[in-house]
Amino acid sequence: MKILAIETSCDETAISVVEAKGGIKNPQFKVISNLTLSQAKLHAKYGGVFPSLAKREHSRNLVPVLQKVLEQGFEDHRFQTPNYRKITSSKLQKIKQILKREPELLEQFLEFIPTIKKPAIDKIAVTYGPGLEPALWVGINFAKALSEVWSTTKRIPVVPVNHMEGHIVSVLLAQNKKIYKKIKFPAVALLISGGHTELVLVKEWGDYKILGQTRDDAVGEVFDKVARMLDLPYPGGPEISRLADQARNLKPKIKNLINFPRPMINSPDLDFSFSGLKTAVLYHLQKYPAKTTEEKSLIAEEFELAVVEIFLRKIKKAIEQSGAKTLIVAGGVSANKFIRSEIERRFGKEIEILIPEFELSTDNALMIAIAGYLKILRKSKTQKNIKAEGNLSFN
Ligand code: KG4
Ligand code: ZN
Repeated sequence: MKILAIETSCDETAISVVEAKGGIKNPQFKVISNLTLSQAKLHAKYGGVFPSLAKREHSRNLVPVLQKVLEQGFEDHRFQTPNYRKITSSKLQKIKQILKREPELLEQFLEFIPTIKKPAIDKIAVTYGPGLEPALWVGINFAKALSEVWSTTKRIPVVPVNHMEGHIVSVLLAQNKKIYKKIKFPAVALLISGGHTELVLVKEWGDYKILGQTRDDAVGEVFDKVARMLDLPYPGGPEISRLADQARNLKPKIKNLINFPRPMINSPDLDFSFSGLKTAVLYHLQKYPAKTTEEKSLIAEEFELAVVEIFLRKIKKAIEQSGAKTLIVAGGVSANKFIRSEIERRFGKEIEILIPEFELSTDNALMIAIAGYLKILRKSKTQKNIKAEGNLSFN
């Protein structure tokens, strides 16, 4: 089965085409085409994602991204002019209705779609939450419009996908068949991204329960805010990570005398809190402004260490409480090398650890295709009226 997947929940416009087979016991995936266009540079001057700008950029970029994805994945996908395929007037009316809030997207859609042949896809998967609602809507409406124009007697259904399930199942891609057989349930997933910090019990694919989550800021958000305090560009995660690595590699090693709190590290539950850590960095900087790269790198190093120590403690507790046999770590912040290596060092001997490839840690459409396939296999009823759900959650 070929799935075209669309992801627009935040500041990445991403589309992929994936061939999936094997069923729930042995899912296998082949990437046919995949592209992610990041808007990060545009949002940088706001120090974070600006929702209406994200929506506008998705509207502008979806058609060009689709065009490249089809070029990559399907040779001979274009009609030779003037063999345009006209969109029938009844379909045209529906598409105009679906895309009425995205005039720029509608215009590009009507220009581009008649110039291409319908690609050989069976389903369209699209992120419907959680995320920024205006941004999610663009992706959903685009998916609906493509389904409308490409459905013949054989319908091409739109499958709504939970972005966080996408992050969890992203571990299935690179490691597919071989590792999949080794996955033993239950698993515990630590999902760490710009919008989320949660520990999720995965009883099996599709069965998720939140065991604990942040009570205030998400960890990625705090990485971004601390980076901003240090005058580093957005997104701040990779910048902090680079600086902290520098501090760790300093020779001769400078003893890091900075000491930030580890909020809720000893709490009996599996919840997190990061706003106190963020404020501690702020107060520290008010007292001792960091001017040199070295001063900044020591702050980054201690900040990362505080985050890692909190994660290690909560993961241990989650494994003990749930009897998990597999640990999954996913979401944008899992791209952090220090976090990855410390988790592997601490738990590698006692539990199977799955972390997605670096490129699959941050938002992408491959994970949406995979989650879409697993959802199709669960045979959940096809939803007709898909709506953006900004606060979509597992529980
Ligand atoms: O999953 P993601 O791409 O988008 C959301 O769903 O939020 O996560 C983005 C977050 C940003 O906060 C970014 O700073 C963080 O992931 N991030 C990192 C690293 N790379 C990205 N955080 C720490 N270290 C990194 N190397
Ligand atoms: Zn994400």
